[in-house]
Formats: sequence, structure tokens, C-alpha cells
Amino acid sequence: MALTDTFTLINDVKIPVVGFGTWQTPDGDVAYQATLDALKAGYRHIDTAAAYGNEESVGRAIADSGIAREDLFITTKLWNADHGYTETQAALTLSLQKLGLDYVDLYLIHWPNPVAFRNEWQQRNADTWRAMEEAYAAGKVRAIGVSNFQVHHLEELFKTATIKPMVNQLFLNPSDTEAEIVAFDNAHNILNEAYSPLGTGAIFDLPEVQTVANRLNKTVAQVVLRWSLDKGFLPLPKSTHTERIIENGQLFDFELSAADTAIIDNLHGKFGFHTEADEAKF
Ligand code: A2P
Repeated sequence: MALTDTFTLINDVKIPVVGFGTWQTPDGDVAYQATLDALKAGYRHIDTAAAYGNEESVGRAIADSGIAREDLFITTKLWNADHGYTETQAALTLSLQKLGLDYVDLYLIHWPNPVAFRNEWQQRNADTWRAMEEAYAAGKVRAIGVSNFQVHHLEELFKTATIKPMVNQLFLNPSDTEAEIVAFDNAHNILNEAYSPLGTGAIFDLPEVQTVANRLNKTVAQVVLRWSLDKGFLPLPKSTHTERIIENGQLFDFELSAADTAIIDNLHGKFGFHTEADEAKF
């Protein structure tokens, strides 16, 4: 396997098996340089969001990389303030403008239940989804999906959707494997993407993974990202350091034994769980 290898979504779109995460990567030089570093290191899949505030810098790096558009896979996400039919159309237009792109490869509803629409989230998601289906038909997005959706959010969406989501991006790492929604997604051919695959850095405080890493002569990050791939997740590691960006892409020259996997599986709950979407304060 390599960074350019792909999973195939239910609509036959190919998605590179590791994505470069940009959450908490500051706009400007940092996001620009990190994205450029990732593309130089061989990543072809970049994950951003309107809410990250760095779409312009990410877009600039994409343009300056010189890599052909069709060889890249770019994801962005609809923020909570923009749930609704016309709101989604406008938000997508703005994201494309900031990224400097004619289309994105994947567009996600970032969260299912914004605090501003807590008494009408079902209708808002239905209206949002209709706009996303139309954007898909119009070729502005090559795939559509969701993020942070639990089973009841998807069941609600299925009542009105004519196209099912192709991806669900979730908080997935050794501390929280979200068994129920992951099984539901798998049963519906929805690919599970893993954000915070390194626990937003918390994994580095645990001695257990270091033991496995030492034995394999790999790093903690590499071992945990390999574990994520082995689970069938698509990890989205974030870093703003060139050497770490390179390191996090070198995942394909070793294997985890059943014993190594069990050590990592045992880290359940060690650094907390996903945010409950229905209780999020945003
Ligand atoms: P930094 O961006 O300063 O390199 P996640 O991908 O789970 O969100 O985790 C990201 C966090 O882990 C960031 O704080 C990032 O720091 C850190 N990180 C990413 N890759 C590595 C690595 N290979 N070694 C050490 N820390 C890393």
C-alpha cells in the first residue's frame, strides 16, 4: 500500500487511504506550508472545513503544488450556521471560491445538530441534504457525506434523502472506536473517516504504544495510524511539522501482530470520548 492507494466509495469515486488533516492549523503561512509539505510528501487527500478558517491558504498550496487537479482529493465541510437549502448553496459557493476550485471531491455536513437549530435539526438537515444532492448532480462535488452523525441522525436523514451519504467522518482513535455508528456505517456502505486519529496528540502521553513502536522500530504515530487503517478507517492525521508530516505517511512497510493490535485496542477510554452531537454547545 501507498499514500496514493485508494478506497472506493459507493458511487465508485476513489479516495486516497490517508488524508492530511488541517483542523487547528492556523490560516496563513502555517496552513499553506503544511499543506504544501503534505503534497510534497505524497499525500493526495487534504481535509479542511469552512470552520477551520484556512480554506484560502489550503487552496493556495494546492494551486502552487503543480499537481494535476484530478490527482487530488479535497474535502471541505458545511459549518453549523449554514444549515438550510439556500444557506448550503451559498456556503458551498464561498468554500469553492476560497479554495480556488471548481469542485471539491467531498462535501460534508460538519455536525448534525447545531445549537442554533436544536428544535428543527431534522428539517435543517433534510434541506441541507437536498442542496448537497443538487450540488452533486451539478458536478460541484464528487461525493457527499456527513460528519459526527450518530445512528439516529442518519436514520432521520434517510427519510428524505435520495442519495445516501458516502462518508461519515468521526472521532475515531484507540480511546473511542464508536462501535455502534461504525457498524451502522459499514452496513450502509458509508466509509468511516477518522479525525483526531492521534487523539489530537493525547496518544503520545501513553507508554503502551511506545512499547509496540520500539519493538517494530516505528514511531507511536505510525503504529496508531496503521492500527486505524487496519480497523478499516481512513485516518486524517494533522501536523504542522514537516518531519512529522512525512513520518505520518510512512505506514506501509510494517504490520501489527494480533498481540500489538490487542495492546492498542486496550486503550479504550484512555483519553476520552467523542463529543455528543446533540449536546454540543456550537
Ligand atoms: P503538530 O501539529 O504540532 O505537529 P490528530 O491528528 O489526532 O488531530 O493529532 C494532531 C496532534 O498530534 C497535533 O498536536 C500534532 O502536533 C501532533 N502530532 C502529529 N503527528 C505527530 C508525530 N508524528 N509525532 C508527534 N506529534 C505529532
